[in-house]
Amino acid sequence: MADDDKEIPLSEKLKNLLKFDSFRNIPNFIEFLEKGLERELFHDPEKEKKPIPVEDLPVDLALRQSSSIRKLYEHIFPITHVFKTTYRYNGEFLENFMPITNGDYIGRGSYKFVYKLPWNQVVKVGKSKWLSDPLFGSLYKEVSKHLEKYLKPEELNLKEFLQRKSYFESSRELIDFKFKRLGLERLHYWKLKSLIPDLVMPTRFFMGIRYRSRPFLSPLVTMTPCDNQKLLAGKHLKEFIRVNEKIKKNLIEDTFFPKWELNFDTHRFGIVNKSKLKKIAFDFHRVIEATRYLVEKEKLILDLHSENIIITIPDFELKIFDYHVFDEHLYEPSLENPSPEIDHIKLIEEFISSFEL
Ligand SMILES: Nc1ncnc2c1ncn2[C@@H]1O[C@H](COP(=O)(O)OP(=O)(O)O)[C@@H](O)[C@H]1O
Ligand SMILES: [Mg+2]
Repeated sequence: MADDDKEIPLSEKLKNLLKFDSFRNIPNFIEFLEKGLERELFHDPEKEKKPIPVEDLPVDLALRQSSSIRKLYEHIFPITHVFKTTYRYNGEFLENFMPITNGDYIGRGSYKFVYKLPWNQVVKVGKSKWLSDPLFGSLYKEVSKHLEKYLKPEELNLKEFLQRKSYFESSRELIDFKFKRLGLERLHYWKLKSLIPDLVMPTRFFMGIRYRSRPFLSPLVTMTPCDNQKLLAGKHLKEFIRVNEKIKKNLIEDTFFPKWELNFDTHRFGIVNKSKLKKIAFDFHRVIEATRYLVEKEKLILDLHSENIIITIPDFELKIFDYHVFDEHLYEPSLENPSPEIDHIKLIEEFISSFEL
């Protein structure tokens, strides 16, 4: 160690200290990330604020709708609660009881089911995924290589404990996969948090146990990565779209490849004053810059769909709560744009231009 130190001249060391990148590579990643989260997501049941009315939640009707078969299934086998699981007292330890019912289901994306909790927070329950999913690209490899950087000691202990208990190689592998996926979620979160900290919702990631009750049988218990955030009152970017007018080109294209003009109605949920609009526009530009940075420097595509961006009400602030980034070559490119991030950026630019600032 001392020998290594001697080889680097002092001036060089100072220069290294000032490099922007060295700030971004915080060695005790987890410690840094978790700092403040406990305080940020702390809630006192005695001082619980009024629940946010359902109509104020960002609603994605298409995504919320389940098929009638699914609804029946959820009715017969409802999810009743989620626990955080960790390693304590030489074994598996359950804490943070989170009760949920079917009525608390508020949305889903490709990777999570989202439920609101009795206090103004959400719990997001990871859907089961295959390793072949595009989510598991180069960052997954990075997490697999340095798992101790992305998991807390008690999570690593739990992983080992569960693997020791498993009889089959396949179940040991599945446990390994789930813990790496948990670490991956944290890394995605950090990628954005380090670029646009104030626009990213504080998120606590943990290994969860989900309970599904079954008539006359013991509950079905599933371990899956979960996370927890404050419940947001607000609207998806796409909920600000007023009318979708079809752009007419020719009969064939209109029929087979219809294109829609986006009409953003900024004042749909109340009059937003000029200074608020300017702040939203400014924050959107920062999001675009972060997106460009990730593409250029890291070849990563931020999954910036309009349902992953929320404008809060009543204070009209921009918030992002889904941080998945994909390897450029694994992200589905669109027909027009070989560079997939351009689609997201274009939509946002259209939205900003509708502000008429
Ligand atoms: N903090 C939150 N407050 C209110 N609604 C939320 C919150 N987080 C997610 N949702 C709802 O759940 C949907 C899916 O959540 P998201 O985190 O994007 O999951 P996925 O990673 O599967 O896309 C969102 O589009 C939104 O409608
Ligand atoms: Mg999403």
